[in-house]
Amino acid sequence: MSHAPKQEKAWGGVFNEPTDKRVEAFSESVSFDRRLADDDIDGSTAHARMLAACGLMTAAEAEAVAAALAEIRSDIAADRFEFSATKEDIHLHIESALTAKLGDTGRKLHTARSRNDQVATDLRLFCRRAIDRIDTGLAELQRAFVGLADRERDLVIPAYTHLRRAQPVLAAHQLLSWCEKFQRDRDRLADCRKRTNILPLGSGALAGTSLPIDREHVRQALGFDGLAANSLDGASDRDFVCELAFVISLSAVHLSQWAEEWIIWSTHEFGFLKLPEGFCTGSSIMPQKINPDVLELVRGKSARTIGNVQALLVLMKGLPTAYNRDLQEDKEQIFDSIDTLEAMLGVAAPLVAGTSFDRERIAASIDRGHLDATSLMEAMIADGVPQRTAHETVGRLVRLAMTRGMQLAELAEDECRREFAGWKPAFRNALGARHAVDRMQSEGSTAPARVASQLTAWKARLG
Ligand code: ARG
Repeated sequence: MSHAPKQEKAWGGVFNEPTDKRVEAFSESVSFDRRLADDDIDGSTAHARMLAACGLMTAAEAEAVAAALAEIRSDIAADRFEFSATKEDIHLHIESALTAKLGDTGRKLHTARSRNDQVATDLRLFCRRAIDRIDTGLAELQRAFVGLADRERDLVIPAYTHLRRAQPVLAAHQLLSWCEKFQRDRDRLADCRKRTNILPLGSGALAGTSLPIDREHVRQALGFDGLAANSLDGASDRDFVCELAFVISLSAVHLSQWAEEWIIWSTHEFGFLKLPEGFCTGSSIMPQKINPDVLELVRGKSARTIGNVQALLVLMKGLPTAYNRDLQEDKEQIFDSIDTLEAMLGVAAPLVAGTSFDRERIAASIDRGHLDATSLMEAMIADGVPQRTAHETVGRLVRLAMTRGMQLAELAEDECRREFAGWKPAFRNALGARHAVDRMQSEGSTAPARVASQLTAWKARLG
């Protein structure tokens, strides 16, 4: 009696009926998980060598497997590999190509392994590589901000709260504020990498294996920092996917906030920035338009990264212990988040590097809007005036200046003394945007010396 299965699935032995074609189309994942091919091959190569080290395969067999997997890798890279929904996913595709090349030797590869711990391993390798690329992209963007801050290091601009003129700052200070955000993103990535870089392989389907494997051998070969300690958890933990999706989304939110700010700053009304034309687009009907579409798309694309976090958390929330097929749905979300952020970073860094400030326009309006009111108030406080009194007095002086259409510095001495008996001419030293900036001193402030040392620190840090 023949032992040939009724159907050619890797899991077909128990089945009497073939899989419905509609089910094959519905449940396949190879259309998207083929992106795991390199990681799958890395994982399988390490697994085969471990099997040989443990006597579950000969060394010659393991090397034959490694060589055949290398050929499959180049076939896939060169588009010579045939994909089909009947073979479900990338893991079964690679294994069946291996068996086609090596026969029974290929049929040994899946010893002491399940696709459950296999896919978890592949996805961790994929995410680890993505984390490292994203970190490089964020560093590149930080370098672009530092470069622009360095070129504009003496420029004073208005800073806003509630999108109303608030206090003057150095442009460099504002630019370096983005470096802080992207540094926290990089720190979060590094932290997420620690939990990503744990090896699930050896968890088997969920319970481990009765075969004498050596997980430490695979861990070293694949550069993981540790082993998943519990096989049930190891085969089904997707925390690292959710975390990475979140870290990406927060980075995308930072990029979106930056894009929004620069869209505003580059309007005709603000006129602070000159964006590089290569990073703007035109209108097919209004010939005069030079639009910030790249910045708008950076802002717009952040939305899908936020949606992906939600999709992943909702995917996970109903799953009982160990592998459930729902987990196959994690890949498109995390792939999309990774692709989206990398695309955003790919245009953001050169856009920042190619941007300059319109120094003349900024200088023409920097002393409007009473940006120096807080500076005046603090000069009075430093002279012993109670803060509330100083605040009220400067408020009255601003009101007076507003009714006259003047700036604070243009009010006459006797007018100031009329508003406040303790007025001193030296208070005027605090007026004017440039002076207000120069008088700053606190750590982390826009004081020129502080900003200069921040710039130095960033340059040293980013190399
Ligand atoms: N394509 C599957 C996934 O992405 C691989 C694991 C399938 N395991 C299983 N027992 N059906 O999750």
